Amino acid sequence: MLEVSRLTKWYGALIGIQDVSFDVEPGEVLGLLGPNGSGKSTTVKILTGLLRPTSGLVRLDGRNIADDLETYKAHLGYVPEEPHLYTHLTGPEYLRLVGRLRQIPDKRLDRKIDEFLQLLGIYDDRYQTLSAYSKGMRQKILIAAAVLHDPRLVILDEPFSGLDVSAARLLKAFVRALAEQGKVVLFSSHVLEVVEQVCSRVVILKEGRIVGHDSVANLRTMLQLPSLDAVFAALTAEEDVAGRLNGLLATMRA
Ligand SMILES: Nc1ncnc2c1ncn2[C@@H]1O[C@H](COP(=O)(O)OP(=O)(O)O)[C@@H](O)[C@H]1O
Ligand SMILES: [Mg+2]
Repeated sequence: MLEVSRLTKWYGALIGIQDVSFDVEPGEVLGLLGPNGSGKSTTVKILTGLLRPTSGLVRLDGRNIADDLETYKAHLGYVPEEPHLYTHLTGPEYLRLVGRLRQIPDKRLDRKIDEFLQLLGIYDDRYQTLSAYSKGMRQKILIAAAVLHDPRLVILDEPFSGLDVSAARLLKAFVRALAEQGKVVLFSSHVLEVVEQVCSRVVILKEGRIVGHDSVANLRTMLQLPSLDAVFAALTAEEDVAGRLNGLLATMRA
């Protein structure tokens, strides 16, 4: 239902991603996994319509999203990696702003906001501004904001980075539950553990290219490696950490 075909993005003379293709079906959580700079955010931004690819296209239900971005965005919930939050607003004020942009009627919106805040365990903090929220509390608000209008598609960029254990556990379970409700879910992460816990399928990026694409279980079996960590290291041929550490220590002492 969401088809990504041969996306390439150049930033001037620098390559962002090259020839990236995959698709995602409702009920699936697809993980975009890769080290920093591998092209996850570039892919995600193209998928949200924020960035135009240099070539290639994204289709939803067979239609190029670029032909009618407005309709596409109405189906989409997005949690950005570096959100521009209005930190002087309280959580409910922020959600009300987003809900109105999504044209949710006021009464329904207020009810939804109250329920979300209670379910996410941040109701008691409702009079505090976002500037006083912890990273986990802000992320809860952002995820609530992304799903407030019950989108078919939920895309999250590094949603679990820097969260405390309890916020991470709840939000991971919520992401899985969204897929179980029949949504198309896609998120990026540089953390293998998270992808292993949450995703059904994984696309592994390195230097802007796909170097692995399969179910988590298959990738492991294929390479006969015990964990996705080992698969990842094999596929992306990570540099020799020990050698680098010695170099760093030597440089420090020099
Ligand atoms: N706005 C930009 N201008 C120039 N280069 C960019 C820009 N955004 C990303 N890049 C480059 O594109 C590559 C992929 O970046 P990104 O998609 O942010 O990776 P990731 O999210 O996996 O860390 C990197 O080499 C990065 O430096
Ligand atoms: Mg990124």
